[in-house]
Amino acid sequence: MTIRGRMQILDNYSLKRLNTFNIDVRAKKFTAVRSNEDVLYLREKGYFEKGSHLILGGGSNILFSTDYDGLVVYMDSRGREVVENDGESLYLKIMAGEDWDETVEHCVSMGWGGLENLSMIPGKAGSSPIQNIGAYGVELSEHFHSLEALEKSTGKIRTFSGEECRFGYRDSVFKQGEKGRYLILSVTLRLDLTPEVRTHYLALSRELSEMGVTNPSIAAVRVAVMRIRGRKLPDPKVLGNAGSFFKNTVISREDFSIIREKFPEIKYFEEAGGVKIAAGWLIDKAGWKGKRKGNAGVHQDQALVIVNHGGATGSDVLGLAADIKESVMDIYGIELQEEVNII
Ligand code: FAD
Ligand code: EPU
Repeated sequence: MTIRGRMQILDNYSLKRLNTFNIDVRAKKFTAVRSNEDVLYLREKGYFEKGSHLILGGGSNILFSTDYDGLVVYMDSRGREVVENDGESLYLKIMAGEDWDETVEHCVSMGWGGLENLSMIPGKAGSSPIQNIGAYGVELSEHFHSLEALEKSTGKIRTFSGEECRFGYRDSVFKQGEKGRYLILSVTLRLDLTPEVRTHYLALSRELSEMGVTNPSIAAVRVAVMRIRGRKLPDPKVLGNAGSFFKNTVISREDFSIIREKFPEIKYFEEAGGVKIAAGWLIDKAGWKGKRKGNAGVHQDQALVIVNHGGATGSDVLGLAADIKESVMDIYGIELQEEVNII
């Protein structure tokens, strides 16, 4: 059905190419939005009230457990605009449907610093605040200025500051109290006109040394991050996955000291509020790396990543995830939490 001239509502639409796990599921109804006007039109016509709906970005942090019995709204709104430049920082407004890594590449090529450590993360710009994406020692929140979001029930467009987003490790208000209430329309980031590189993450500083780089530029940091990621993380085009399936586990220093006595080799990161235990290490040492259960498996180079070897269903992945959780609980007494959104 064609609406608003060029927008189409399609029936029984395959989502296989729209989720990086490559799970073969279908949406009862599907539409793509290319502008804020398209989004407002859907709301005016009551599409956000008629039955269930799902906002879909790049599908790189989602696991479909079954066909979706509602409307999938695919974010395809494009555009980037410099909204302010105060000589020190530049403020870039990015439409939700822009590809995240193309945005990082653009910023690096312009010499605008801040996002280079977040290179090669799949997905759309509009999804980046939802779990406050992070990698190689940097989180989105450090360069976030604000976002605009549609409150779907009222049609009001609201601006959220960083504080209002209540960012945490792989967390924000959009995964907590406000889950499902807003559709993010655009994100504005603050970039440094005189960039200072951040290379404190061990794997990153090592990679730069191996590259023979002593005084890294933001472009060199991007290359180093891409080299590490290329080695460790499976390319979803080749092997379906959604990055880390579980979050790293943050616990108090007291609890950590008990665990460390039993497992002195444990890998961890010191955090302001406690200790972040590398869940990949826990799963790896529990013997899961490279293991398969039917068509789902644990990646051979990164135990935190569950992969689809081809033809896996959402239930296959969930079954394997449940076994991993049980085994980590039995061995370490730690409850792993999913990072991926299960639909
Ligand atoms: P989707 O998976 O499409 O959606 C995620 C959630 O956000 C869903 O609940 C969806 O309904 C909701 N949503 C999407 N867009 C909107 C919107 N505009 N408004 C409201 N709700 C919305 N993450 C990291 O943090 N760090 C990493 O290093 C990292 N590495 C990865 C590596 C690989 C190989 C893969 C496959 C994933 C990785 N991820 C990583 C996870 C993922 O890329 C990020 O979470 C990304 O931000 C998800 O974006 P997306 O557009 O694909 O979101
Ligand atoms: N490790 C193992 N075995 C494994 C995996 C990891 O021993 O199979 C150990 C590593 O040797 C290292 C430690 O665990 O000492 C941490 O590993 P790594 O640097 O690969 O990072 P991670 O904690 O597994 C996190 C993020 C990634 C992000 C990287 C880099 C989470 C849940 N994951 O992974 O994000 O790219 O750090 O910053 O925080 C994602 O969220 O989807 C994602 C890929």
